[in-house]
Amino acid sequence: MPQSVELKLNGTMIELPVIEGTEHEMALDISKLRAKTKFITLDPGYVNTGSCKSAITFIDGDKGILRYRGIPIEQLAESSTFVEVAYLLIHGELPRPKQLTGFSQRLTWASMIHEDMKTFFSGYPAGAHPMAILSSMMGSLSAYYSGDDDYKNPKQMDLVIARAIAKIRTIAAFSFNKSRGLPFVYPEADLPYCANLLNMFFHKPTRPYHIDPEAVRLMNQLLILHADHEQNCSTSTVRLVGSSEANLYAAISAGICALWGRLHGGANQAVIEMLQRIHKDGGGVQKYIDMAKDKNSDFRLMGFGHRVYKNFDPRATIIKKACRRYLEHVGADDDPLLNIAIKLEDAALADDYFAERKLYPNVDFYSGIIYRAMKIPTNMFTVMFAIGRTPGWIAHWKEMIEAPEFRIGRPRQIYTGPVERDYVPISER
Ligand code: SDX
Repeated sequence: MPQSVELKLNGTMIELPVIEGTEHEMALDISKLRAKTKFITLDPGYVNTGSCKSAITFIDGDKGILRYRGIPIEQLAESSTFVEVAYLLIHGELPRPKQLTGFSQRLTWASMIHEDMKTFFSGYPAGAHPMAILSSMMGSLSAYYSGDDDYKNPKQMDLVIARAIAKIRTIAAFSFNKSRGLPFVYPEADLPYCANLLNMFFHKPTRPYHIDPEAVRLMNQLLILHADHEQNCSTSTVRLVGSSEANLYAAISAGICALWGRLHGGANQAVIEMLQRIHKDGGGVQKYIDMAKDKNSDFRLMGFGHRVYKNFDPRATIIKKACRRYLEHVGADDDPLLNIAIKLEDAALADDYFAERKLYPNVDFYSGIIYRAMKIPTNMFTVMFAIGRTPGWIAHWKEMIEAPEFRIGRPRQIYTGPVERDYVPISER
């Protein structure tokens, strides 16, 4: 591959360096383009534009490959735990036993929220979406831990990372308890992360929660599968907010808001609502396949398609298998929504419209069916996605602020508004 390419603009010839990644992805370095030519590039949706170099996650969308720090997602989903994967994403290597014990301990110690924060929940209306609560409370952590931004101090960095990962789970659990009029269930020191999450969700004073090892294994797998996905919309949001040197809690709060959209993390909730609509409509899928293809309809097949994957999303393949296994485990394998989802997938994959556009099921297509079987309500699905994605957001934020080329993100634009004109007093308008 050449070290650079030549670009001729208005008679000026300039050289653009070529950058090659470790997986042989290629980029043109245009960082000097405007200074040398006065030109900028334009790329709505950043379809062709890289925002950074990163060593965290690799995706090959054509081959359906996803690796965290070089380790295939299939191996991590099968053999690791969410806490171990969080450490891998953030620190770059799988933790040695002492490192894992120390990280787990920090998560346990940091898992309480300030008692005053409990009053936040009574300020929300009963039907408040938990993503609204989660984003505002994560941002509000900076009001309680204002001294947390000495990120150059390794101990302080470890502490703020533990606080973010531990407290997002507690805030999520408390908002779930509040939505059902149930008492808050505190984290327990001797429970690992995912068992603690399930216990905080489902334990009741009158009926203690039986920690089902299969549910714990599955929750670890789901959070691992959602933990990172390179420069997706919410991670790019966390990077951009963090690039102004806003604190980590503020950057995560912004990431939660970006994830909420139905085109992104909100799709898992939209998939279940779509499947329920089809079920209510008799369960036939062809009508909805036709609507998804109809440009005059705003209906989209939620949980289908992806900006990067033009092959199966490897996470969807793993989740579909886990879905069948868990529904059998809980005796819900006759869930009509699962059958509709499978029919919908088969019909779409057999249809030229989807095949030509390389639209396959993504991570959100089957995840909601599992959460439903775990008795997690639909409006909590994207909250589960946010809990899983927090280590990925942190890993990218940390990589960015520690990069030698760190600077505030500030894209350019091409102005298309009115040219210069005078102010007109209101009496003359
Ligand atoms: C996530 O980026 C990430 O990595 C995200 C994520 C992560 O882990 O962070 O993987 C998580 O957000 C997964 C995606 C969840 N969203 C959905 O399931 C919503 C439904 N899917 C889409 O709206 C869409 O596929 C996107 C948003 C996912 C991707 O949008 P793009 O890349 O901008 O693609 P596009 O909208 O330009 O679509 C290209 C063509 C269009 O048709 P034509 O104009 O070429 O005729 O494909 C069509 C689209 O109309 N199309 C769909 C479709 N998705 C794309 N048609 C019907 N149903 C769909 N779902």
